[in-house]
Parts: sequence; C-alpha cells; structure tokens
Amino acid sequence: MSLLTTATRMWLTRSVKPFLFTNEYDNQLLYRKTNHLGLYIHIPFCKLICDFCPYCKVLYEDRIANDYVDALIKEIHLVGAANKERKEVTSLYFGGGSPALIANRIRDIISAIEQHFIITEGIGIELHPNDVSVQKLKTLKEAGITKISIGIQSFQDEFLQILGREKTDYTSMFYALKMVEFETISMDFIFALPNQTFELVKRDIDMAFQNGANHIAIYPFIDFSFTNSAAIKMNSKEKRKLLDTITEYCREKGYIRDSIWTFAKSKTKKYSSMTRDNFLGFGCSATTLLEKQFKINTFSIEAYIKRIEKNQLPTSLTVRFTLRQRMIYYLFWTAYTMIINPKEFKKFFGVKLENQYGFELWLAKIFGLLKRKDDYYEMTMKGAYYYHYYENYYTLSYIDQMWSLMRKEAFPKKLEL
Ligand SMILES: C[S@@+](CC[C@H](N)C(=O)[O-])C[C@H]1O[C@@H](n2cnc3c(N)ncnc32)[C@H](O)[C@@H]1O
Ligand code: SF4
Repeated sequence: MSLLTTATRMWLTRSVKPFLFTNEYDNQLLYRKTNHLGLYIHIPFCKLICDFCPYCKVLYEDRIANDYVDALIKEIHLVGAANKERKEVTSLYFGGGSPALIANRIRDIISAIEQHFIITEGIGIELHPNDVSVQKLKTLKEAGITKISIGIQSFQDEFLQILGREKTDYTSMFYALKMVEFETISMDFIFALPNQTFELVKRDIDMAFQNGANHIAIYPFIDFSFTNSAAIKMNSKEKRKLLDTITEYCREKGYIRDSIWTFAKSKTKKYSSMTRDNFLGFGCSATTLLEKQFKINTFSIEAYIKRIEKNQLPTSLTVRFTLRQRMIYYLFWTAYTMIINPKEFKKFFGVKLENQYGFELWLAKIFGLLKRKDDYYEMTMKGAYYYHYYENYYTLSYIDQMWSLMRKEAFPKKLEL
C-alpha cells in the first residue's frame, strides 16, 4: 500500500480506520429500497488466456461451465428470494471471461433474473472478437441482449503481440456486425503501450467507427502484479499527451465523452457496467455495492458451486462502510462519469455535498480539475488526467492486492486496505 493512497484515504474519510474486509457475510441482501440498482453477472471462461488480463477466468470446459451456470441460476434465486415483489433495476451486464461461450444458456439466466427483477435500460454483454459471428449474435439478440461490447484491444498485430493475445481476423466480425443490429455496439481498446503513437491509436478509433461501433472505450494499460504481461509502461508525460490528443480528436469528430474512458456517437445509449450507485453481482469474483456494504464473491469456481449447493451465498469478503467511506466510494464512481451532481449526492446521503467536501471542491476548482456548471460539477481535461492517475494508483494499491489474495484463497479471513 503506498503512502499516498493511505494518506488520501485518511484525509477523505476523516479517519485512520482502514477499509476492513472480513469473511463474515449476510445470507440475505437488503436491496428492496435501493434506488438506481444495476445487475452484473460474471462468466469466468475463456477459450485462450491473454497475458495482460487480470480478471477471474479459467479455460473453458463444457461440464464445468454447465455446472457453473446451474449454480449461478441458483444464486440469482437465493438473492432474489429476499424480495417478494419484482424489483426495478436499471440494467443487466454480462462480463467475463467470455460470456458468449455459454450463449445457449444466456436465455435461461435472463429468465431467472426476470423472475425477480424488471430491467429498464437494456442488457449488455462483453464479447471476444472471435465470438462475433452472425449465428452467435442472433442467439444473443433472441435471448434479450440489446448492447454488446467487443474487446478488440488493438486492430494491430504488433500490439496484440505485446499484450499476449493471438492474431485475430476481423473480416467475419465486421460482416456479422452489419447483419445483426444492436442499440449499442461498443469496442474496447488499450492505449499507452510501448511505441504506440497517436497516429496508431487514431487508426484503431477510425476503424472501429467505420465498422459498426457507435461507442468506444479506450483504457490505459495497467500492469497488474500477477499477470504475465511483458509490456513496458509508457512514462506519465507521454501518456498524458496521448490521452489529451485522443480526447481532442474524438471531440473534433463529434464523439461525446460519456465517461473518463468512453466516447460515443451522439444519441447512443451508454455501455457502462461500472457507473452505478448500487449494484448486485452474481457469479465468481462478482462484487455487490449497497448503501452500507460492499462484498466480493469467491474467485474459486469449485468453492462457489459448493457454497451454492448448501444454499449459502458465495461471498468471500465484506466491508461494512462508515458513512464517510461510503461517500468516498460514491464520489469516486460518480466522478468516473465526469459529472458530480450535488442534488444526487443529497438524495443519496441526506446531507449537502458542499457541507461534507466544500474545501476539496474548492481546491479542485482552484487547480482547474473541476468546473461548476449550472447545478453540477464537470471534470476538466486536466481533472480527467489526474483522475486517471489516481485510478491507476487505486487499482494497483487496492484492487491488485485484493485480487492477488482472492486468487490464492477462496475465503480469506480478512483484508485491510
Ligand atoms: C473483462 S475484459 C475483456 C472482455 C473480453 N473477454 C475480451 O477479451 O475481449 C474488459 C476490458 O478490460 C480491459 N482490460 C483488461 N485488462 C486490462 C489491463 N491490464 N489494462 C487495461 N485495460 C484492461 C480490456 O480493454 C477489456 O476488453
Ligand atoms: S482478455 Fe478476455 S479473452 Fe482474454 S483472458 Fe481476459 S477475459 Fe479472457
């Protein structure tokens, strides 16, 4: 844990208390009155494992994948049973791994979800480029999927090689995208790779928008301690210049920056599984964020299935927030949308944002990180860069540590961050 993240946490939470995660957990989640609730489902199977990828996944095997989906459906019913009436939720996202590997079971999972929840803003799924065929897209669309996000990373072999991903032929993917329509077609890219110039990133952006995408996500490369990535990090100055040039280019082309890392053609519905005030997560490694707690499910598929067989939730670690910790968590994720809305903050916490963090907002304005608009705060380009800088720190100090532990132990006793 770096001194910087610890000091910032103490300052912003006004306490020396760390985030304490323990293995005690609730077998019934209270979300009946929770507003702006999103749903996330994790499918931890891939056909090949990419060197750079930190997510919870194993190589696909028919039998394990089927047992996993059976357990997943049971988890949905265990969580859903806490509520007699169907609960309205914003969205449902399938992530992974490569969820399209179980395309023929996506309908069963959505049916289980629909017994307990009413989805108001559509259903999204992450796809590997090799999964994008006419047949698969049709199956997914018939199952109820309305948005897709394809993990391209780069259209250029040179960068795929650096990332440790096999060469990909995009011809059939482009054809399939023409034949089967979705309201949002997003493509993911990774930037700040060695020798990656703006011209090369621009080539990827143009290729995406010319071939079916109406939304893109461009993430800076993060070098997790437990991945096998051989890529060398780009230095901060170069990275900032690249990020600013990408942002300006997208703005010139009329693409709207709808979060720190995403740009969209106008009137496109967002693809975003992250920017939710609250969410319920199902499956291995999935996280749940409610008003008073954050919890993370076990990373072990075997342990996950065993817990569910005993009618117990597969929660591995839970943190019970202090009010200030929850405020910081809320602000961190809201800032990801580039906008902080004091009215929404007041609705969530019942107190005025300016009374809680007036000094910090003032500082952020003085340093040119935030601008006050009519009734909200908007992040500037400089703000977005520093947010990214801090997010990188946060990811390597908190998430890297948590995931490293969870990969080793199915149910660790505790973790202090
Ligand atoms: C769950 S992942 C992958 C989805 C899909 N299975 C695929 O491979 O295309 C979602 C996205 O996170 C981004 N990502 C994964 N590892 C990353 C890393 N080390 N640094 C930055 N972004 C990363 C990638 O852009 C990826 O598409
Ligand atoms: S990047 Fe996608 S396909 Fe590659 S290992 Fe990660 S989840 Fe699997």
